[in-house]
Amino acid sequence: MAKVGLIGLGTMGANLALNLAEKGFPVAVHNRSPEKIAPFVASAGDLAERLTAAPLLADLVSALTPPRAIILMVQAGDAVDAQIDGLLPLLQPGDTIIDAGNADFNDTRRRERSLAKKGYNFIGMGVSGGSEGARHGPSIMVGGPVEAYAPIREMIEAIAAPYEGSPCAAHLGPDGAGHFVKTVHNGIEYADMQIIAEVYGIMRDGQSRMPAEIGAAFAAWNEGPLKSYLTEITAEVLTTADPETGQAMPDVIVDSAGQKGTGRWTVIEALRLGQSASTIEAAVGARGWSAAREMRADAEPLLGGTKTITGLPDTDLETAMLGARIIAYAQGFAVLEAASRDFGWDLDHARTAEIWRAGCIIRSALLDDISGAFRSGTRGEALILAPQFTSRLALGAKSLRAVVCAAVEAGHPVPAMSAALAYFDTMRKARGTANLIQAQRDFFGAHGFERLDKDGSGFHGPWVS
Ligand code: 6PG
Repeated sequence: MAKVGLIGLGTMGANLALNLAEKGFPVAVHNRSPEKIAPFVASAGDLAERLTAAPLLADLVSALTPPRAIILMVQAGDAVDAQIDGLLPLLQPGDTIIDAGNADFNDTRRRERSLAKKGYNFIGMGVSGGSEGARHGPSIMVGGPVEAYAPIREMIEAIAAPYEGSPCAAHLGPDGAGHFVKTVHNGIEYADMQIIAEVYGIMRDGQSRMPAEIGAAFAAWNEGPLKSYLTEITAEVLTTADPETGQAMPDVIVDSAGQKGTGRWTVIEALRLGQSASTIEAAVGARGWSAAREMRADAEPLLGGTKTITGLPDTDLETAMLGARIIAYAQGFAVLEAASRDFGWDLDHARTAEIWRAGCIIRSALLDDISGAFRSGTRGEALILAPQFTSRLALGAKSLRAVVCAAVEAGHPVPAMSAALAYFDTMRKARGTANLIQAQRDFFGAHGFERLDKDGSGFHGPWVS
């Protein structure tokens, strides 16, 4: 008998199935187009003996002993509901469906509630690390009933990436908590990628440097505090040649990047929770702008006129990137904290940071310090105040200011870095300017305000309107 079922043999699902089989867990595999199943099993080599082909859902279900665990690795959205609808008549109460895709956590909450009423368990499981991660060890963010996680915990921990011997997998909270944390992970991923792309833009367009040279700088930065998967792959991408033309790969790629939704969801949920993850917003927005290629091509001769950037040392680029990255993480954790309170999840931010240290796309040297900061009592929304970060941020902000000023002065776009700097400048000021906003609201709408010298709210100004 198989230990677990898996539906969806796309790249991620196939790799996850091989990972499970390799770690000793026999898997029954099913795919909506069943013709993919036999070739997949046939291509699995020695692992094929731990894979059971299940051309029908009924085959998959009967290959498993109750209480069953079935992983869905299908496209987020309607396909998940369709698979659940197909499975339910075949399952027994107590069985568990695990959605391992990038689901909208609102859907996960709805599915969990509806399945719980019928006696089934539903787990929303965020899996990060791309196809390589799925095959050899991703970071796994689990949400759902804790009692449903207990029987599969050993298996999930076995397939997760290890960090210094401890698995990068954890049950983070009920219902949609795992998918929410994965969504915010992706939001931070968007921000970090955009920050890196902005530095690349400064070096390419402001400093007229070639991809190989920029790649070498990223490779050097990857030896220091910026060490991370995204820094590392950026260096590799920049120094890879296109086999067809011999040009650097980035030079043959269209400057327009798509998105599947998780970055946007982070921003939407952040705003709903009264937060602004502005570096993530900037990154999502920049992807949107990147699609306007025709308009940008029309605009350049009309409105163009960027200047060369001089006198900006690489050390400033490095330190600015670090500062912006810390702020992106800080904003991401502030969103997690707000959601944790709003949904009553009691998220353990230190644990989240710990399971992001290996396997996932945003794994970086910073995460050790981030988990340390939360372990030593830093509040979820206040990562920038942690002793681990205040001096680094002071330096980071100095460089961020130098880089943003140089870029803005020369006309090169730095939306994420300037958003990070604006957040820093806002948060380090005890008295802001919303007193004037309160007065304006009261002036035109009698919305009332609070006073510094009196308790309570609903005061009005002596304006005559
Ligand atoms: C990961 C990635 C993964 C996927 C993103 C890409 O953590 O492994 O985030 O989930 O590559 O969904 O998202 P976009 O297509 O929206 O850039």
